[in-house]
Amino acid sequence: MAPRLFSDLTINVTNFFRDDVTFNLLERNVLPALVNRYKDKLRRIRIWSAGCATGQEPYSIAMLLLELLYRDIIKWDVTIFATDIDTKVLNLAKEGFFTLKEVDGVRSEWLERYFSYENKGFRIKQILRQLVTFAEHNLVKDSPYHDLDMVVCRNVLIYFTNLLQTRVLKNFYKVIKEEGFLLLGRSEALVGETRRLFQLVDSKAKLYKKKDQLEDRKEKETFQKSVYNRTLLYKKRAY
Ligand SMILES: C[S@@+](CC[C@H](N)C(=O)[O-])C[C@H]1O[C@@H](n2cnc3c(N)ncnc32)[C@H](O)[C@@H]1O
Repeated sequence: MAPRLFSDLTINVTNFFRDDVTFNLLERNVLPALVNRYKDKLRRIRIWSAGCATGQEPYSIAMLLLELLYRDIIKWDVTIFATDIDTKVLNLAKEGFFTLKEVDGVRSEWLERYFSYENKGFRIKQILRQLVTFAEHNLVKDSPYHDLDMVVCRNVLIYFTNLLQTRVLKNFYKVIKEEGFLLLGRSEALVGETRRLFQLVDSKAKLYKKKDQLEDRKEKETFQKSVYNRTLLYKKRAY
């Protein structure tokens, strides 16, 4: 890929708890709902932060989950897969070292709990780091993770063509579990036929829920029937 194009596609701007609306919803609704769903049986949560840049997004989600589960975290199997196409930013993410300016969005009690002060900056503590698994991954080419309770893909698809967005969103649909969530960036939305696959939960945060396959099949059948009826009507008129 030409270097210019690569750098266009890898704008890695990010923040801890980027977008209050989104993270308030995760903290108050989405993550408590997942914990509630699994607390009696599976006790397993799998989230994918796709296009995680320098890691603030997955670490923010990990902090929220740790706050929710607290001491019970040891009884749970929590994994946040955090991937990016850009090796350089991924290495920084894995390092987990942030400047004072970069930790600006982190509540002071969480800064104390989940970071240690080091060389005029802050390093993620092991308790937080161990929840996040980083890997290089190209959304366009590589096969996606699976069995996911939520895919968080924010401010990534905005740089893709409609065709690529559709392909990636369809992949997400296949790997999100029934009742699972999809979170996009605030200026992103579903495109084309993928609108049929998810139902909007919150329009400001761009939070969607996967529609179940039965519902999807019914909608598809209704759509096909209406196309068939319209074709019949058209043929009748033509006679
Ligand atoms: C603006 S950052 C978004 C960071 C974070 N999700 C957020 O919203 O704060 C976009 C990230 O998407 C990554 N990216 C671009 N194309 C990608 C692709 N095909 N596969 C995976 N990651 C990609 C870039 O490298 C960049 O780090």
